Amino acid sequence: MSDRVRIFDTTLRDGEQSPGVNLNAKDKFEIAKQLQKLGVDIIEAGFPIASVGDFEGVKNIAKNVRGVTIAGLARTSFADIDRAWEALKYADQARIHTFIATSDIHLKHKLRMTREAVLESAVAGVKRAKQYTSDVEFSAEDAFRSDLGFLCQVIEAVISAGATTVNIPDTVGYATPTEFGEFIGEIKNRVPNIDKAFISVHCHNDLGMAVANSLAAVCTGAQQVECAVNGIGERAGNASLEEVVMALYTRYPFYQKKTNIKKDELYRTSRLVSNLTGMKVQPNKAIVGKNAFAHESGIHQDGVLKERSTYEIMNPEMIGLNINNIVLGKHSGRHAIKDRLVELGYNLSDEEVDKAFVKFKALADKKKEVKDEDLSAIVENEVLTVPETYKLDYLHISSGTSMIPTATVRLTSGEESFEEAACGDGPVDAIYKVIEKITGITCTLQLYNLHAVTEGKDALGEVTVKIQPDSSRKTFLGRGVSTDVIEASAKAYLNAVNKIVFSQAENEENVDRPKAGI
Ligand code: KIV
Ligand code: ZN
Repeated sequence: MSDRVRIFDTTLRDGEQSPGVNLNAKDKFEIAKQLQKLGVDIIEAGFPIASVGDFEGVKNIAKNVRGVTIAGLARTSFADIDRAWEALKYADQARIHTFIATSDIHLKHKLRMTREAVLESAVAGVKRAKQYTSDVEFSAEDAFRSDLGFLCQVIEAVISAGATTVNIPDTVGYATPTEFGEFIGEIKNRVPNIDKAFISVHCHNDLGMAVANSLAAVCTGAQQVECAVNGIGERAGNASLEEVVMALYTRYPFYQKKTNIKKDELYRTSRLVSNLTGMKVQPNKAIVGKNAFAHESGIHQDGVLKERSTYEIMNPEMIGLNINNIVLGKHSGRHAIKDRLVELGYNLSDEEVDKAFVKFKALADKKKEVKDEDLSAIVENEVLTVPETYKLDYLHISSGTSMIPTATVRLTSGEESFEEAACGDGPVDAIYKVIEKITGITCTLQLYNLHAVTEGKDALGEVTVKIQPDSSRKTFLGRGVSTDVIEASAKAYLNAVNKIVFSQAENEENVDRPKAGI
């Protein structure tokens, strides 16, 4: 048996199904490039039939991200499979991932199909996909709650029809590790042609056991694990990629399985996904949480100072969390910034480096030491973003304990300049009213979040907003950074508005998205 476990990343598909997450094609492309760099074996780039935006996102990734398998999800209907192929056909290595539910609960209440009809549809879907590509994955949705005999019959049939990977999801996160491990072992024993396909697992985290279940399955025969960066995904999410990878690595003597993941890209990948999805990583999250390597108690600190292994089973450098000692400041030149950006893993064009450098200089004038986190915040919030149709040119606020907050804002768009004023419940509300007046895009503010990028009074404030335009059901995330939190608030809102304009231009209007999980 091979000692390698394939990592199938579903951040851009199941992860993107996280409530409130809505990535545009540009964000998806940034994440896909990073996943390729991270060394995942398969990138599930989306669900092409779900919307024009999903289709374009998968197509763009298939065309431009080379050297890695790109998968697209499809139900077993021919329309889904044909559409998936339309998007995937440009890839170096394309995989069609087709699925249908096999549990009686799903058959009765959702699909309203008999077992015979499901079996037939599964086989037909795989055969259809096989006409396009040799790499076909079949998933039995809600496999863990399916009748094992029927599930094995379906798996045997789809392998005979050409499936090269068979995926066993615990769609509702119901399994426990012992049971799930045994379940995979049983499938391996009962399906006669199982050695003709890779066994994959896809665990949801409803009871907090997705990683444990995936690892238990690895012990009994799973050769591929489906997971998402930061564990994002439907409801409580998917198995967390970084936890699966670091468990296999740190406990190699136990699992005896390797992955192709470049571990020192894990932290950066986590940051990028968190920034672009707007889903914050909880501080105590294993591997990539802010506290994952922090030692608070005196006894622990003393132990670590004497010998790291007393309280550390991994160290931050392994996941690419470097404590870089060379401080950047206002005397640092373009060269130094460019080098640091490369060290931080950003692969920017000359134009993007120029933009980052201008923003860096402006920050260094206000802040004595510019840390790596500041630089990352600049790049992710102000450089790698959609075109700035509207730019903030001027901002003035009158606010105090006994006056009505008023904002005057000037925006530029190309050669044009627009200035307006408005009152609001607070200075931020007043600014947002002016931006609505100027752009004509009226929205509901669904989320406003402010946090300091680094510690200290001169820290960069990073504001994240989520807004929903009155004209659409979609929501848009915007982020802005500045040492002035009012300015950061204005920039964040404007960033989201620019995304709305960009999405309208891309004609990314969502049609009803069929949810792939449950
Ligand atoms: O959770 C699930 O069952 C899925 C399948 C489509 C693989 O996401
Ligand atoms: Zn899922």
